[in-house]
Amino acid sequence: MKPAHNIWDLRTQAQRRLPRAVFEFIERGSEDETLVRQNRDGLERIKFSPRTLRDVSSRDQTTTLFGRPLPTPMIIAPTGTADLLCYRGERAIARAAGAAGIPFTLATSSTTSVEQIAEATGAGFWMQLYLWDRRDLSWQLVERAGAAGAEAMVLTVDTPMWPNREFNKRNGMANPIRPNPTLARHFLGRPAWLAAVMGRYALEGGIPQFANYPTEAVAGGARKVNRQANSAAVTWDDIVELRRRWPKTLILKGVLSREDALLAIEHGVDGVIVSNHGARNFDASPASIDVLPEIVDAVGERMTVIFDSGVRRGSDVLKAIAIGAKAVMIGRATLYGAAAGGQEGAARAIAILQEEISTAMAMLGVTSLDQLDRSCLRRATVVGLD
Ligand code: FNR
Repeated sequence: MKPAHNIWDLRTQAQRRLPRAVFEFIERGSEDETLVRQNRDGLERIKFSPRTLRDVSSRDQTTTLFGRPLPTPMIIAPTGTADLLCYRGERAIARAAGAAGIPFTLATSSTTSVEQIAEATGAGFWMQLYLWDRRDLSWQLVERAGAAGAEAMVLTVDTPMWPNREFNKRNGMANPIRPNPTLARHFLGRPAWLAAVMGRYALEGGIPQFANYPTEAVAGGARKVNRQANSAAVTWDDIVELRRRWPKTLILKGVLSREDALLAIEHGVDGVIVSNHGARNFDASPASIDVLPEIVDAVGERMTVIFDSGVRRGSDVLKAIAIGAKAVMIGRATLYGAAAGGQEGAARAIAILQEEISTAMAMLGVTSLDQLDRSCLRRATVVGLD
């Protein structure tokens, strides 16, 4: 693997290696794509109030999340696309997460099965859920994930419709891939990737397909279910049912309002992920970091708050924690890593962020994460604080 000094280096390598249609699939937003930049602007705008002349020669970034000790306050976000970035990329990231001791979250729409992920990760894994029209099939997947050892169930609640990602249509791109001439042109432009990834899959029997969809949910030969129609009808009643069926940690992903966070508490949910889906879903949503303070304030100690969308630096992780998040989910950072260098690249992405967290802690004058609070922040730089 080529040297990478930060997440942006991994991104550059990913862009050089991947066909444009695949890179844009992971990189871009929706509609006018203003939110991609706004997630970064929101994080970059926030400044700390560093303290000095404190002994910061040893620093501890461990934390405890839902009763489980973590070496660093990070979790791999569900993305379900990594098998396109490098050969068996989903397992590569799961193994890197396992080696780093952090949870990997498997997406419902993944091309790697829950059982294969359970085998790959040594550090526990979480399962992300989209509900199907036929709830009985979704409950079967919940059971299957539980039997495979999933520690937490993450229901994504910010995707009632399939988002408008026009570039994917132009590029002929979807996950799983459906062959077409436009996509073929993109693929032929990256012969090394084509041979190393698609070539190997072709030799092994074909392009990976959704691996967690029950056969009943598979229409025709192509593994498709009409999720648009299904997710649009998901309501709090489903949370009641899911809570009844899933006794372990239950988390809602994609909460952007304090009202919904409060309803989550009422429904016995253990945590919410303040997330705008990495700016991929609804371009008129707020930057995720801008709503974090009000949600943390609304729920107080009653529920765990996790943050994602736009994290590219260790200091971003600390900003979310200083505001009141307990941990942060990482989406594209490890995808860039996997594209750049498989498991080694994903591990490099995690290590870069850990190193940056450690340096930033020293710069701030803190030696453990519990010393981080809003007094560490320049309050005027944080939306929602005065
Ligand atoms: C995602 N994300 C996502 N989330 C989810 O709940 N289910 C899913 O299937 C997917 N799929 C997915 C694919 C790709 C290619 C990306 C980049 C993201 C969103 C993801 O879990 C997370 O919220 C964001 O990626 C966080 O933002 P950053 O870290 O990528 O900026």
